[in-house]
Amino acid sequence: MKSSGLRRMIQFHFALILLLLAAAAAAQVQKAPTTDPTEEAALNAVLDRLPEAAPRPRWNTTSDLCSGAAADNRIDLYGDPSSKLAIECDCSDQNNTVCHITRLKISDVNMAGNIPEELRNLTRLTHLNLSKNLLTGSIPLFIGELTSMQYM
Ligand SMILES: *[C@@H]1O[C@H](CO)[C@@H](O)[C@H](O)[C@H]1NC(C)=O
Ligand SMILES: *[C@@H]1O[C@H](CO)[C@@H](O)[C@H](O)[C@H]1NC(C)=O
Ligand SMILES: *[C@@H]1O[C@H](CO)[C@@H](O)[C@H](O)[C@H]1NC(C)=O
Ligand SMILES: *[C@@H]1O[C@H](CO)[C@@H](O)[C@H](O)[C@H]1NC(C)=O
Repeated sequence: MKSSGLRRMIQFHFALILLLLAAAAAAQVQKAPTTDPTEEAALNAVLDRLPEAAPRPRWNTTSDLCSGAAADNRIDLYGDPSSKLAIECDCSDQNNTVCHITRLKISDVNMAGNIPEELRNLTRLTHLNLSKNLLTGSIPLFIGELTSMQYM
């Protein structure tokens, strides 16, 4: 009789350990995804070219830029006509741990010069809106390498 009580206790502890392991695994999966560092650097380099007077970007500038609204498809920053600087991210890569910038709008902010070369590194873009700026020169050849592009 005593040994069956002990067995039950061992079984209980075993179940408890399994539960804790499962919780730890779930916590790992839920770790917030982070933006691809090459894409983040590219976007920041493009932003550096904007005039001082340009509006604040409508994405998270204090934490990961693909966190919050940029990765939350309930809020369409990109499609909002009042937003001039907006991105949208897809954070499903590598088991929901890596975010890629899929839409970029830099519109009506007096960005001048050629189309920025850094855009080359935003390889996952499907939408790019550079309307109403002061861009000059021809469309660079590297745009042809952005093979996910659906709308420009
Ligand atoms: C940026 O991310 C931080 C950390 O996740 C969060 O506390 C903050 O509210 C976010 N800000 C915006 C504007 O989304
Ligand atoms: C590009 O962005 C501007 C500013 O939000 C918007 O007015 C325009 O409709 C956009 N172009 C397209 C085709 O989405
Ligand atoms: C993604 O998650 C699944 C299920 O949790 C796992 O089997 C797989 O090994 C993971 N893949 C990577 C690349 O981490
Ligand atoms: C693209 O990213 C690579 C490293 O990830 C960097 O060496 C290169 O300078 C970047 N290209 C441009 C045009 O910014």
